[in-house]
Amino acid sequence: MFEKILVPVDGSPTSLKAVQMAGEIARRFDAQVTLVHVQHLPTAALAASDMAGMAGTDQTMIDALDAAAQEIVCAARAALALPENRVGEKILLGHPAETICQLAEAEAYDLISMGSRGLSEVRAFFMGSVSDKVSHHAHCPVLIVR
Ligand SMILES: Nc1ncnc2c1ncn2[C@@H]1O[C@H](COP(=O)(O)OP(=O)(O)OP(=O)(O)O)[C@@H](O)[C@H]1O
Ligand SMILES: [Mg+2]
Repeated sequence: MFEKILVPVDGSPTSLKAVQMAGEIARRFDAQVTLVHVQHLPTAALAASDMAGMAGTDQTMIDALDAAAQEIVCAARAALALPENRVGEKILLGHPAETICQLAEAEAYDLISMGSRGLSEVRAFFMGSVSDKVSHHAHCPVLIVR
C-alpha cells in the first residue's frame, strides 16, 4: 500500500514524532523513506541571489543554514532507525509547503508523514502553516502527527 514515504523535517520535536511513525509504517510495508528539509530564505534574499548568482546572499548565512539542515536531517535519520539503504535525504531551497507538494507529486510518493506543528512559538491554530498547506494541496494522503 505504501512504497515511498516522504517525511518533511524542520528539527522540531513534533516532526521527529512524524519521523518515528513513518519508520513504523515503513517497517510494516517494506517502504522507502525520504527525509526532506526545505531551507526557507527570505523572499528578498532569494530574489537577490537569483539576480546575482548567489553573490547577493551572505555566504556566512548560507553556510550556517547548510550546517543546520545537515544536523536536522541527521537527527531525523537516527530517529527513523531503518537500514541505510531504505532512507534517502534531500535538502532543498524554497517555500516549504510548495516545495514539499511539488516533490511529492514529481517523485510519486504515496504518503507524506509530517508534524502538526513545527518550530514556531505561535500557537493560535491546531496546525502550522506548512502542515495546513500540505494537507490541503498534496496529491497523496498526508499523515499529520501530533
Ligand atoms: N522548512 C521545512 N522543511 C521541511 N519540513 C517542514 C519545514 N517546516 C515545517 N515542516 C514540517 O511541517 C510540520 C509543521 O510545521 P509548521 O511550520 O507548519 O508549524 P509551525 O512552525 O508550528 O507554524 P508556522 O511555521 O506556520 O508558524 C513540521 O512538524 C515538519 O514536519
Ligand atoms: Mg514552521
